[in-house]
Amino acid sequence: MFVNIYILSANSYTVDFVVKLKEDTSAVMKPFVTSTSGIFVFLLTLVPWSNGKCKEAGSRPEMNLNVSYELPSFTAETPVQNTVLYQHHIYVGAVNKIYVLNESLHSVFVYKTGPVLENPDCAPCEDCKHKANQSSSTWNNNRNMALLLETYYEDQLISCGSVAKGTCLRHVIHANNPADIGRDVECMYLKQVFDESGQCPDCVVSPSGSKVLVIEKDRFVNFYVGNTVVNSSQQDHSLHSISVRRLKESLDGFEFLTADSYIDVLPQFRDSYPIKYIHAFEKDHFIYFLTVQKESLDSQTFHTRIIRFCSLDSELRSYMEMPLECMYTEKRRKRSTGQPNEVFNILQAAYIGKPGAALAREMNLDMNDDILYGAFAQSKRDSSEPSHKSAVCLVAIKTINEFFSKIVDRQNMKCLQHLYREDSKYCSKRVSVHDVIEC
Ligand SMILES: *[C@@H]1O[C@H](CO)[C@@H](O)[C@H](O)[C@H]1NC(C)=O
Ligand SMILES: *[C@@H]1O[C@H](CO)[C@@H](O)[C@H](O)[C@H]1NC(C)=O
Ligand SMILES: *[C@@H]1O[C@H](CO)[C@@H](O)[C@H](O)[C@H]1NC(C)=O
Ligand SMILES: *[C@@H]1O[C@H](CO)[C@@H](O)[C@H](O)[C@H]1NC(C)=O
Repeated sequence: MFVNIYILSANSYTVDFVVKLKEDTSAVMKPFVTSTSGIFVFLLTLVPWSNGKCKEAGSRPEMNLNVSYELPSFTAETPVQNTVLYQHHIYVGAVNKIYVLNESLHSVFVYKTGPVLENPDCAPCEDCKHKANQSSSTWNNNRNMALLLETYYEDQLISCGSVAKGTCLRHVIHANNPADIGRDVECMYLKQVFDESGQCPDCVVSPSGSKVLVIEKDRFVNFYVGNTVVNSSQQDHSLHSISVRRLKESLDGFEFLTADSYIDVLPQFRDSYPIKYIHAFEKDHFIYFLTVQKESLDSQTFHTRIIRFCSLDSELRSYMEMPLECMYTEKRRKRSTGQPNEVFNILQAAYIGKPGAALAREMNLDMNDDILYGAFAQSKRDSSEPSHKSAVCLVAIKTINEFFSKIVDRQNMKCLQHLYREDSKYCSKRVSVHDVIEC
């Protein structure tokens, strides 16, 4: 089995087609767990190739590091934020542009998304040119905050940018010319921004950072959104930290199913407690988000958390969080005695996949088990900025679920202070065990 890897670096302008990796040569790490004074800390341990595996792997003939590969690559004119692979094309969301690349990474189409002239009196997608000379008008670069594929209703690419209140455009992908994403483009926004309850279901992404998961559920398409919400960028209080919304069948916008289809960081903590949403995925009726945030409201140190809720829970009653830690221990036996040597506290990227035979054996898993592969970095002191030190840690999804279940079973749940007030119904008696564990 081989996987193709497209490397996308947030600070670079390039998309590289990289070496084909043989799955079985993946690094082997084992998860383990400790329980300290009532709080579950979930630890992923990097077993340091104690049995000499790392050296072995390094010296394998097929891993000659001297070889320089001639690989196709593409360099965008503006920084790249997102990529989507669909059939034989790669759609690349960058500042002010969406590029369509063919399989050999040649740009075959460019759709311009910015800069956008914005004025407080112009609605998203409204032509604002007649207000160009007003002092309140500004030209803004459009960063791509989400690039999504939706194939349930029709093949379409959905792009959401940092302008226009976080609304999205849909680009129909025509089967006879899938590269031409400029032929059929519609704004996913209704003329009236706010609905009766003062919400803006069409305002999807935050200019400060977003992670969006699109899933077909019971003949509807749900959008699960994690947004970094900070005061300075908070547009009309219309953005939510975690939300579930449904794509309307008319495809021209979204709707919240209930008035409780979102959870927000409490306003007083928004500036001091930013949450970065790094990755989102679905497995077996659960939605997961991986975040980087401060360890607690009064901590300056950042760590990684995993969030889980049921995919059909439109009121987010089953919402839970748990820390996730990637650490390196020098020798396996030190686990019981000493401190971990190094902790890689902040997740940078993640991937869900199956193990190869050797990895499954090493981790005592079935080859059908799903594994979370996470690339973690050590942060700079009291910062969410990564340093140069990084590691890849793996953990089975079923192990993550076992720990969520243990937290519930042992009644070890604590109120999430950044989300709920002390007197919230969710803090006194948040959920029934059944709600959380089964979906
Ligand atoms: C790799 O390059 C170094 C320096 O040029 C050389 O010393 C070494 O023998 C090379 N290794 C292999 C496996 O070719
Ligand atoms: C991609 O486009 C380039 C330039 O048009 C062309 O030379 C190349 O053959 C195409 N590659 C594929 C896989 O279609
Ligand atoms: C804006 O100002 C320029 C120069 O003053 C003028 O040529 C242009 O017609 C004006 N545009 C509008 C829409 O008023
Ligand atoms: C953020 O906004 C909320 C509500 O608008 C306000 O209560 C809070 O004080 C603000 N925080 C900061 C740090 O400005």
